[in-house]
Amino acid sequence: MYELLIVLDKELQTSLNRQIYEQIRKAIFQGVLHHGDVIPSTRLLAEQLQVSRSVVIQAYEQLQSEGYLIMKKGAGTYIAENAANENNSRQEATQKVNNYDIFTNASHIVSVVNSPPIVSDEQQNSAVFDFRYGVPSWEAFPMDRWQKVLAEACRKATPDILGGYGPAEGSYRLRKEIARLLRSTRAIPAVPDQIIITAGATQALDMISRLFLKNGDRVIVEDPAHPVLRETFCFAGGNVVSVPVDEEGLRVQDIEPIINEQNGNHGDVKLIYVTPSHQFPAGMTMSQQRRIELLDYANKNNTYIIEDDYDSEYRYVGQKVSALAGLDSSGRVIYVGSFSKSLFPGLRIGYAVMPASLIKSFLAIKCITNRMTPTLEQEALAEFIASGQYARHVNGMGKLYGARRSCLVQSLHRHFQDRVTAYGDEAGLHLLIQLKTEVTEELIADKALQCGVKVYPASEYFVISKPKTASFLLGYANMTEFQIERGVELLAQAEEQCTRNIEQEAVPKVI
Ligand SMILES: Cc1ncc(COP(=O)(O)O)c(C=O)c1O
Repeated sequence: MYELLIVLDKELQTSLNRQIYEQIRKAIFQGVLHHGDVIPSTRLLAEQLQVSRSVVIQAYEQLQSEGYLIMKKGAGTYIAENAANENNSRQEATQKVNNYDIFTNASHIVSVVNSPPIVSDEQQNSAVFDFRYGVPSWEAFPMDRWQKVLAEACRKATPDILGGYGPAEGSYRLRKEIARLLRSTRAIPAVPDQIIITAGATQALDMISRLFLKNGDRVIVEDPAHPVLRETFCFAGGNVVSVPVDEEGLRVQDIEPIINEQNGNHGDVKLIYVTPSHQFPAGMTMSQQRRIELLDYANKNNTYIIEDDYDSEYRYVGQKVSALAGLDSSGRVIYVGSFSKSLFPGLRIGYAVMPASLIKSFLAIKCITNRMTPTLEQEALAEFIASGQYARHVNGMGKLYGARRSCLVQSLHRHFQDRVTAYGDEAGLHLLIQLKTEVTEELIADKALQCGVKVYPASEYFVISKPKTASFLLGYANMTEFQIERGVELLAQAEEQCTRNIEQEAVPKVI
């Protein structure tokens, strides 16, 4: 049962029951109250408004007689189905939003940044087999152990931790544990003071952009890259310069000619964004030679490098590679990490390892964005890492994902033979695949969805040169081997049907 905000003015000439009637009716027409919304009983509303119950009864009966309300014994009082023409009230609301454009940056924002779709409860994903990338296995997550550390964090919470505004940089215990992890697993000589906890890598990247960029400053971004990355930099005023990658990672040798071609100045390059451990989305690992060249370029041109190490926990082939930040002796690399892939994205905990000289300004930005990251989860995570459960979990997931990755690669080759090339299968939670086919990726993705499998077209990730044939990102971490095999089989059937349709359309019709 909802509370209903109604304000009565006893000084008005209008009777109290009329005021209640009018305010509920207005709420229906403004789209504040929708069909099916339950409103308080006459007794509760009378208590809330401190009026006699008969006043509310009169208002409700009037609304009921006009078809706005349904009052049913046992089911309560709720808004009737055709109480308002919902379309009209929605249109009215949209109109209002559009009018606000005059006063806000709304149209600028939508020209730079893609709004995510708003998904209602009714819009269920219809795909049975969803190759969604960037998500870890949900069913294998040790929820019972996570609940224990969370409950322990609640039990141990002190006024410092929960009762006030804690440190903007985050829990000291968590930063200490992260520093330890980074030293042992990524060869980064980090100390807790350099680590600032953020709401995922996303917030760290946004804050770094705000720290470094003024209108027109250049940001070198790997091509391909996540479109959201380009949007983040553009939104902060940056001028994104896409530089291609090859099998060794970012083509550092191309930066100079590309900037020169744009009549740019290397002094305007304020940031370089890279994913050296597992290029997103193409999947290669940056070679040692390129790492050295990149650090040289940054030093020579007084620019900073963002190392986004979003999924380096999972490597299936060869030795684990150390982080670029571990090679950096001049404080040019800002390392960004996240627990979204190793634990779960809804945790929203990531962090940035900042050079000492930038910590104060970075914290100032953190304070004005969300002040601090939720504290209970930070304490729970610190305990999860300190007790060794995090390392055990990552180790176990590595084995599970390794098996799923092999299953995906084998299924792809079984169904597409030499018509498929898979990139980036050495590490991470996804593959980039390219099919030798005449059919566009949109047609294949649509047909696949009709067959019950969801795949993710990859062209939008590329700027300079789009893939010549249909390419997809396939996440495999959150699918069982059965789902992977069946999903690939259906994808192959979808592609075959599309090819057949095209061939039939190409046959000249005999009249
Ligand atoms: C390359 C890359 N960087 C950063 C992120 C953001 O991660 P977070 O959930 O920590 O904000 C993602 C998310 O999938 C990603 O793919």
